[in-house]
Amino acid sequence: MPIYLDHAATTPLRREALEAMLPYLTDHFGNASSPHGFGRVARAGLDEARERVACAIGAQPREIVFTSGGSESNNLAVKGAAWAGKARGHRIVTTAVEHHSVGHTMRYLEKFGFEIVELPVDRYGRVDPKDVEAAITPKTILVSVMLANNEVGTIQPIAQIAARVRRHKGVLFHTDAVGAAAYLAIDAASLDVDLLSLAAHKFEGPKGVGALYVRHGTNILAQQQGGAQERYRRAGTEDVASAAGMATALELAVCERPEVEPPLLALRDALAGRLLGIEGVHETGHPVDRLTNSLSILVAGLDGASLAMALDLAGLACSTGSACVSGSTDVSHVLTAMGYPEDEAKGALRLSLGRTTTALEIEEAGRLIAQVIDTQREAGAKLAATSRVAAPGHDAGHAASGASAG
Ligand SMILES: Cc1ncc(COP(=O)(O)O)c(C=O)c1O
Repeated sequence: MPIYLDHAATTPLRREALEAMLPYLTDHFGNASSPHGFGRVARAGLDEARERVACAIGAQPREIVFTSGGSESNNLAVKGAAWAGKARGHRIVTTAVEHHSVGHTMRYLEKFGFEIVELPVDRYGRVDPKDVEAAITPKTILVSVMLANNEVGTIQPIAQIAARVRRHKGVLFHTDAVGAAAYLAIDAASLDVDLLSLAAHKFEGPKGVGALYVRHGTNILAQQQGGAQERYRRAGTEDVASAAGMATALELAVCERPEVEPPLLALRDALAGRLLGIEGVHETGHPVDRLTNSLSILVAGLDGASLAMALDLAGLACSTGSACVSGSTDVSHVLTAMGYPEDEAKGALRLSLGRTTTALEIEEAGRLIAQVIDTQREAGAKLAATSRVAAPGHDAGHAASGASAG
């Protein structure tokens, strides 16, 4: 069985979540909007799931809108707040390191006349709360800052940002908590946000289901028209099975966190210790304020995509960054926003652990990564030597760096 160190992309469905889903995929198949007995059973299942998700994040059940996942939650939050606030203003403040489901939604809104202010981040990927407040004008209707970054794991100072946003009446505050929910205690009230996005597949729930927390009294415009489901905020027959699976996975993640966190941190740090001992390997992201499962590195002179490919062949699944952009040749917008030049950012490798990761797997992962780095560096050096022989008099330093980049 290959080693899986890509929990930031997605996690396996845990058995308890699957078991919570099964009744609604079989006997209790009714439509939650039907008035008959089948419908009432489904409705009861949906209501219970909503209560449990709400309770897990310190919200009220009516503040939870079930969606199809993180991307939809982010789209609904950002577009919903933008269109609802258009009469008051057109300015939206965000950061340069958001997930594309926020970043590309901002680009889309720009086409409709919204002014998007994308704030810079520091070397660790953090935005300064003072910068957020300074960017707010009387025309600002929304601020959107993610809780933790999906590529480097950096945690943003959300409560401090919220305190500053609150000084400006009528400005909504959204946070994308999709990557953070499994590893941070989330309490919507103490974070003091109006909108908060979740996706079940990041915490061992099913794929294709998520939730948007909408603080009571917050006005957003539905992005999907049809029936009255989800209090008119998201039309469409509800997926009760997925909602039940999400509720179970989230509850378990919350209550197991105190026992899961210390060993997870120890494993992450053991892997970091092993890899940072290799010449030319550096860690990215905040050294302390970072998700406990997250380890992102830069390997000097090598290409992260070819490292990840070689590791996949060797039996280790990891990634270069966001799963949504892997496969494209783009350099990470997160790392470039953090100030890394493109040629350095190309060497990115993201290793994200999970609850089920074992010490044996980490030991083996450390060995495999070191071996693959060695092999690729040796191949690069050989290629450089060959090109020096083939082209005598050619600048040796230039030939070496060109060869190792591929
Ligand atoms: C921070 C963050 N936001 C949003 C998303 C999108 O979630 P989904 O894949 O459920 O649409 C992801 C998924 O990778 C993510 O990591």
